[in-house]
This record gives sequence, C-alpha cells and structure tokens, in this order.
Amino acid sequence: MPQLTWLGDAEAKRAARRVPYRLLETQSVHGDPDADNWLIQGDNLEALKSLLPFCAGRVKCIFIDPPYNTKSAFEHYDDNLEHSQWLSMMYPRLELLRDLLAEDGSIWVTIDDNEGHYLKVVMDDVFGRGNFIATGIWQKLHARNNSAQHLSDDHDFIIAFARNLKIWRPNKVSRSYASDADFWNPDDDPRGLWRRSDLTAAKPYSDGHYEVTGPHGDIFVPRKNRYWSLSRETFAALEKDDRIWWGKTGRTFPFRKRFQSELGDLVPTTVWLNTDVGNNREAKQEVAKLFGRDDIFSTPKPERLARHVLHIATNPGDLVLDSFLGSATTAAVAHKMGRRWIGIEMGEHARTHCLPRLLKVIDGEPGGISKAVDWNGGGGFRFLTLGPPVFEPDGRINPAVRFPTLAGYLWFLETGTPWTTHDATPSPLLGLHDDTAVVLLYNGILGDSRTDGGNVLTSALWRDLEPLAAGRARRWIIYGEAALMPETRRRELNIQFKQIPYDIQMR
Ligand SMILES: C[S@@+](CC[C@H](N)C(=O)[O-])C[C@H]1O[C@@H](n2cnc3c(N)ncnc32)[C@H](O)[C@@H]1O
Repeated sequence: MPQLTWLGDAEAKRAARRVPYRLLETQSVHGDPDADNWLIQGDNLEALKSLLPFCAGRVKCIFIDPPYNTKSAFEHYDDNLEHSQWLSMMYPRLELLRDLLAEDGSIWVTIDDNEGHYLKVVMDDVFGRGNFIATGIWQKLHARNNSAQHLSDDHDFIIAFARNLKIWRPNKVSRSYASDADFWNPDDDPRGLWRRSDLTAAKPYSDGHYEVTGPHGDIFVPRKNRYWSLSRETFAALEKDDRIWWGKTGRTFPFRKRFQSELGDLVPTTVWLNTDVGNNREAKQEVAKLFGRDDIFSTPKPERLARHVLHIATNPGDLVLDSFLGSATTAAVAHKMGRRWIGIEMGEHARTHCLPRLLKVIDGEPGGISKAVDWNGGGGFRFLTLGPPVFEPDGRINPAVRFPTLAGYLWFLETGTPWTTHDATPSPLLGLHDDTAVVLLYNGILGDSRTDGGNVLTSALWRDLEPLAAGRARRWIIYGEAALMPETRRRELNIQFKQIPYDIQMR
C-alpha cells in the first residue's frame, strides 16, 4: 500500500508507546458526584494514554476539532506548526484515539484545505482504508467572502472513520431539518407539510394505463412509456382521503401528497448546510453569550454542528470524547443530549472557559441547542489534571499510587480491556478475564494481620483468595511484593506470580 512519509515519521509512530502513563488527579467535583463526566486539563497525548486503562474500547464517538495549521496565532492557542510537525503531532494522538474507540464506535474530525488531504491519508493508515465512512462538507460561512483573492472558502471537511465499518451504523436524521425545502402546504391540509410524489413509473404494470378524471372533468393517462404505479382502487382510496394533488388550478396531471409527519427519518448526507447545522458566526455568538464579547474564544464550533455528529453517531448514555476541547462545545452538547463525555484541553482556557461553560450547562444554560433538546440542567462532572507518571523510569511505582489506580493499569496490561469495577468494594481480585483470575496485593488490601500488610502471597493468604473466584478460575495471575508460597505449590495451583515492580512492563 502506498505510504505517506515525512521528516520524523518514525519517531511519531513510536511516540504513543513511549509516552508515560500519568496519574489523573481530581481537582474538583461539580454537580452530581456520581456523574461519570471528565474535564481534563493537559496535553492530550499524555491524557489519552492515561485514559487507556479505564476507557480503552469504550468510547462510542470521538469528535475533534484540532488546530488546522492555518499559520495563525489565536488568542488562546497557536496554530502554526511546520507541516511535518503537524503530522507528527496528529499521528500518535490518532493511534491512542483509535485504541479508545468501541468496536461499534466512530471518529469525526473537522479540518480544512491546509491539512485535510494529508489527514485523510494519515487516518487511512491509523484506522484502515476499509473503515473510512465519508468526508462531510460543512458550509461554515453564513455568506460568501467576497473579498477572497481567489475563491471564497465556504466549507470545512469532516472526515469520519469507523473503528469497524462492518458493524458501524449511523442513526438516521429527522426530516424536519434535513429537507424542509421540499415540503409545502398550499392547500392548508390539516395534516401539515407535504411534498409531491410521482404516481407513475417506467416499469410496466398490468393495470398501468387506466384513465383518471380530475376535479374539473379532465382525463389523464400516463405519458408514453410510463405507467401508473398503483391500482385504480388504491388511486380512488387516496383521492377520497385528499391525498391526490391536481395542481393549484385543479387541472394539472395528478401527484401523490406525501406528508412529512408520515415519512420516516433519512440517511444522513455528506453535505451539511449552515441552515441545518449552524455556521462560524453562530458559534461566535453562542460563546459571546457565555463569556461576554471581550473574552471570546476565537475558533468555536456551533452547538448544532456537534449535535448533528452526536445524533448520527451516538445514543443516550454513550461515551463521547473530544481531546481538542477548545471552549467545550462538544462536552456541553454531549451533556445536554444525555451522553457521557470526556473533554481534554491543554490551554488555560480549560479553567477560564471550559469549566465555567460546563458549570452553566449543569445549571440549565438556555443557549445553543438547549431549547431543541429541552435541556433544563442537571448532572455533573469532575475536573482533573495530569499528575506524575504512575511508573518511574526504572519501573518502580510512584509511591503516590493507590490501589485502584494500579489495579486499573495492571488489569489493562493483562487483558487489554478497561478496568470497570473500580467503584465496587475494593477486593484483591480485580476480575476474571476468560478463565484467568487477576489479583493485586498492594497497599495492604487484605488488611494488616498478614505478612507485610497483605502484599505478600502466602499459603494462609491463598485460603482467603481462592474463594473469591468461587471455582470460576482455571488460571491465576497474582501481583504482589513477594511470594512466600513455594513455587511447586504455585505450579500445582496454576498461579503465575508477578513481582511488583519488576514484572510490570507497561506497553
Ligand atoms: C480549534 S480549537 C477547538 C475548538 C472547539 N471545537 C470549540 O468548539 O470550541 C483547538 C483546541 O485544541 C487545543 N489543543 C491543541 N493542541 C492540544 C494538545 N496537544 N492537547 C490538548 N489540547 C490541545 C487548543 O488549545 C485549542 O483550544
């Protein structure tokens, strides 16, 4: 397969593996303390890596709006990387994002002509060409830029990939904003808006050439090589129910009236009009209402755009991730739509813009999509920052690491899946993966009465451990500080003992 190469590509392809796992430290909790929404301040390369043990394979939709490399310096962030550096910045982040996606999940990336075509090729490499969904065209301007030197650049791209296109399916979109222009109601039909639909087809139909009589006695038959596509009886029934349109004069060739309210939803298209999903001006107005005109975030997206993506790609309760959060549009919209979310932003505006915006959302902020989705407030989130690495360069565990954190990392290391039972009562048995029990003896999890506070595998301790898996485990992986149980006995019991920290090698 042809490959894109750039200066530093080999290093970029190693970066995701090399970046350390850092502790995620909760700074504050807002609203409902049980809500599982996270606003993280920090570089997303490190933040995404640190999320892997808890969220790998769980994110239903990633919607990101990375710097486009427009060679500009915006007030809140810089958008001026050398072309190769931009590719090197994106590559490892996309790899980590891919690992966080659920098998039926998808990623949507906004971009423009500066890097869009290169981004598509990089995403082919990371996600696989076969998982490409489409490139959407979003009409971002409200009116053409008539002072443009060449062409008015009216659109951005939205490049979408599935984790696995064979199983990914979009939600359909409502007609109310997908094709309003086709519908009208010139006869004031109480059933509401309708559109004309042809009553004839090219396919021959046995009873396809009967005569019909209009309201003023005019006789109509299909033109040459066309046939009625319905029987006389059906035609008569439709006419009785006022579902045939003979034109404003009542004398033109008949059409069927198809009511908007009776038609199902539509497959989403790749052209997203500003009238349907908002534009840049609307986005600026939204953030101006939130933060005031003097402290406006320079490059926000409109809430309707994020809503469109999340509507197509998620259902209520699904987990949404935006790792280039900006002014927190994706998180705000996900929250209002009843999705769970994680937002990552490295700039100081994580505190000055994202945090206050999301506080307003839980208080029922009425702007953006609030009316459309009937948002009145509620829920909550936590604000986190990145702490020190979990593992020191020589492999030792950072002493600040507590049991649940290490448990999450080791479970992920052993199984490649996230550890989701961290809210349950702490138990040294982290879980069963297939028929393997994974156990962690750390921080004296079994109490102080045992050797070295319960961090050492002894025969006495085994008597407490074994019942935890209640006969379900055929194999055991046990992490601890030391093993005093003889090796022959461990072999008999099918126990693989791993010594902390020496046997921990994070990938
Ligand atoms: C185009 S803006 C996103 C705007 C956002 N969609 C909105 O509606 O407000 C890109 C954001 O990505 C952030 N960013 C850039 N590099 C980052 C990184 N390595 N880690 C985290 N955030 C980053 C920038 O600070 C900026 O806020």
